[in-house]
Amino acid sequence: MRTQIGIVGAGPAGLVLAHLLHLRGIESIVLETRSRKYIEERVRAGLLEQGTVDLLIETGVGERLKRECLTHHGIELRFNRRGHRIDFDDLAGGKTVTIYAQQEVIKDLVAARLAANLPILFDVEDVTVHDFDGGASPSIRFRSAGKEEVIHCDYIAGCDGFHGICRPAIPASVLTTWGRDYPYAWLGILADVPPSTDELIYAHHGDGFALHSLRSPAVSRLYLQVDNGEQLAAWPDERIWAELSRRFELPGWTLEQGPVLDKSITPMRSFVCAPMRYGRLFLAGDAAHIVPPTGAKGLNLALADVAVLAPALDALLHGDDKLAASYSATCLERVWRSTHFSWWMTTMLHRAPTADPLATQLQLAQLRYVVASRAAATTLAENYTGFAMH
Ligand code: FAD
Ligand code: PHB
Repeated sequence: MRTQIGIVGAGPAGLVLAHLLHLRGIESIVLETRSRKYIEERVRAGLLEQGTVDLLIETGVGERLKRECLTHHGIELRFNRRGHRIDFDDLAGGKTVTIYAQQEVIKDLVAARLAANLPILFDVEDVTVHDFDGGASPSIRFRSAGKEEVIHCDYIAGCDGFHGICRPAIPASVLTTWGRDYPYAWLGILADVPPSTDELIYAHHGDGFALHSLRSPAVSRLYLQVDNGEQLAAWPDERIWAELSRRFELPGWTLEQGPVLDKSITPMRSFVCAPMRYGRLFLAGDAAHIVPPTGAKGLNLALADVAVLAPALDALLHGDDKLAASYSATCLERVWRSTHFSWWMTTMLHRAPTADPLATQLQLAQLRYVVASRAAATTLAENYTGFAMH
């Protein structure tokens, strides 16, 4: 097999990159270790920045998104049994955020790719990347339906997520990495019950953080801070609802409960690697950086990366290295801003695992300041709604 760009991973980064390249007349093959069903059902992100929504709509894969999405003009910060609204219309120059589930974005992108008869190989195994460090033509080896296969290409895009094989294939001596594992995790549920709120609620509570998000007028998405290493078996539905109700407690407000459709636990991590390019291999999305989900930035960052990468690869294929040379620095500017914002939201809202009374008072002082000061609220609103894409 031969193509111009070999793309490893059919997550948001890989699929959007393939789509943007196709619009530029550039060929690619997408390789994915999971099945189509698996990636189309995997419950993950749900909150898209304005720039992400605009990108999907402008490039022709936003029709269903436009019909089914929910547009939000603010969020609530809830602490000390009071709610405080951060108003994006007022503070973020009219920018909004959009609820549309990651697996719906994936379905739309896979459907567009298959409708255009473009290659995407699911269920591949033992993917390895080769000869990307110099002048030679790189290749990707893998097994598909039990057969050994090779793709020869001009460039490789490593869009294979945090646990992928592309980043580890780069010699450790040329990469600098920064990382932090937070001492807590998120237990997330999808529930068949109308949301008890119109906008997202981020709750600070003595027992730990909770987030009320939503997927549709009929389906709620909720998250609960749990200790690292917690097992789902220890969290029957009744315990989850009781804990959520306690953490969202507000006089005159009730959390509606319903059947739990999906349940998972996600560790919280910040991670950045640099540079995001090594020779003919480019990393994008979670393959290069991870943020804790409190700022809702991961998927948005993945799309911002490939919006820079597509024109850079286009120029490279025409012999111009300039955009590719600045790819890493351009992306990392946004990555570090989001890494800081996600860390800030996370540490302001989560309970430290060992009781730390000073830390709790500092969090509450910060929260009171954010809701009382227009300057501080603007900082939150500006970062949360996101910055313009390249
Ligand atoms: P991934 O989505 O991880 O895709 C990588 C793909 O590569 C996967 O399909 C994987 O199967 C495949 N793969 C792995 N190894 C190989 C291999 N060797 N060969 C071929 N394929 C391979 N972000 C937001 O912006 N907003 C949110 O509201 C938000 N909420 C979140 C909530 C939760 C609970 C979680 C877990 C994450 C959330 N995120 C959010 C983050 C977001 O889901 C990720 O940042 C996003 O999925 C990154 O996309 P990606 O394409 O870089 O990586
Ligand atoms: C979600 O809807 O899944 C979601 C929303 C906001 C976040 C994280 C996740 O900060």
